[in-house]
Amino acid sequence: MRAIHIRSLDGPSAAELVEIDEPAAAEDSVVVDVHAAGVAFPDALQSRGLYQYKPELPYVPGAEIAGVVRSAPEGAHVRPGDRVAGLTMLSGAMAEVVALQAERVFALPDAVSFEAGAGLLFNDLTVHFALRTRGRLREGETVLVHGAAGGIGTSTLRLASAFGAARTIAVVSTDAKAEVARAAGASDVVLADGFKDAVKDLTGGRGVDIVLDPVGGDRFTDSLRSLAPGGRLLVVGFTGGEIPTVKVNRLLLNNVDAVGVGWGAWTMTHPGYLAEQWAELAPLLASGAVRPPEPDVFPVERAGEAIASLEDRTARGKVVVTLR
Ligand SMILES: NC(=O)c1ccc[n+]([C@@H]2O[C@H](COP(=O)([O-])OP(=O)(O)OC[C@H]3O[C@@H](n4cnc5c(N)ncnc54)[C@H](OP(=O)(O)O)[C@@H]3O)[C@@H](O)[C@H]2O)c1
Repeated sequence: MRAIHIRSLDGPSAAELVEIDEPAAAEDSVVVDVHAAGVAFPDALQSRGLYQYKPELPYVPGAEIAGVVRSAPEGAHVRPGDRVAGLTMLSGAMAEVVALQAERVFALPDAVSFEAGAGLLFNDLTVHFALRTRGRLREGETVLVHGAAGGIGTSTLRLASAFGAARTIAVVSTDAKAEVARAAGASDVVLADGFKDAVKDLTGGRGVDIVLDPVGGDRFTDSLRSLAPGGRLLVVGFTGGEIPTVKVNRLLLNNVDAVGVGWGAWTMTHPGYLAEQWAELAPLLASGAVRPPEPDVFPVERAGEAIASLEDRTARGKVVVTLR
């Protein structure tokens, strides 16, 4: 089969299209003919050996796929011929065939294309976990999201109102990214530079109930300052490069929480959680209450460029590579 290999930790340009053997499938795994695979920020970090999970070289990058089931164990919830999305979780996705644990395979609603399906699970399930489980989002609250034109950002903008948010404020670095955030459903968009004052104006001085932060770095303290009393800052990632530190008196003074969000680790310690998440998300996608992502699509031959677009900050929304 055709697959992308990373043979050296020299960054996304090391991505190479190769012919390798199809995966040896365990009896209890679901084998999927892959149509498209999602690209996420960890793919860029991994290609330089900078992510906490370090696969052995050479490895196939990518955490998520969409495609058609080729074979499934007796009694599984999916059957040969079903359209599905699936999680390889952190490597193995950019290949024409994958073998997945059954609990990481999800029947794709008809309304969701393979390209959209390949860009769905990793971010939407993280954002679901962040807003619902960790962030305790309540009806009528306001959600601010950093990196709003990125994968996690657009996912937050697509999902927040379906989970009860009355308003979303998108923080982006450029006017072009502001357009991406608006298209994903942002109520308001502000530039990262000076976002704290802009948020103060937009909320009449009250602040927001939730900040979902995949960026970190030097905006962290201003994010805490932008929270309303009882607000929650959800720590999702550090695309800005720096892991911020926090003076905890700020939490006490304004009665706010800084909340860790580690979705992958949670799924490992909570069997059945992925299925619970999908049971909430799939009907929203099927009914149109949540729109599927509209990813930027690259052919697999350009997988290196696709991964690089996250690293060099040119990506608009979710990025996906097609394999069929
Ligand atoms: N905690 C979890 O369970 C979990 C799960 C999935 C992903 N994540 C993490 O979430 C983060 C976002 O992932 P993603 O796939 O959404 O990434 P993405 O699509 O590349 O979006 C990240 C955004 O970060 C902003 N950014 C600010 N400084 C940046 C820099 N120096 N380099 C690159 N981007 C920068 C960019 O927006 P502007 O240019 O507008 O600032 C960009 O749109 C990653 O750290 C990822 O590891 C965490």
